[in-house]
Amino acid sequence: MNIQIINGPNLNLLGVREKSIYGDTGFDDYLEDLRQRYANITINYYQSNVEGEIINKLHEIGFNYDGVVLNAGAYTHTSVAIGDAIAAIKTPVIEVHISNVYKREEFRHKSLLAANCKGVIAGFGLDSYRLAIENLLNG
Ligand code: DQA
Repeated sequence: MNIQIINGPNLNLLGVREKSIYGDTGFDDYLEDLRQRYANITINYYQSNVEGEIINKLHEIGFNYDGVVLNAGAYTHTSVAIGDAIAAIKTPVIEVHISNVYKREEFRHKSLLAANCKGVIAGFGLDSYRLAIENLLNG
């Protein structure tokens, strides 16, 4: 099984950025734990701060992978183009957020991606990614 995690803008600064919201673990450390825990599947990782690069990655893997776990960061709330890319591919995409976006500013309550995703997981810290993988594993 091949799963692709995609992190969008500013998520390269996890562990450094706004720790009270996003925690103090860097994504590389968390990814190592995930890969150990799910040693029987391949977990690929891609991060970009650039909208078009996220779209290119979705196109590249979106016809042959088994699932995508996507935290598009702030693009979640603004990007018609990423929403369209999710609609265009075959691989199911799960939208994840580390924070509970519904407890935060109103502009974070709206997702332009969710309607094209298999589902949305938000508010469980980094565990949101594991919960998404669990779902993909269960079909
Ligand atoms: C986020 C929530 C977004 O609103 C924000 O812009 C992020 C991170 C999250 O994981 O909680 O960059 O996607």
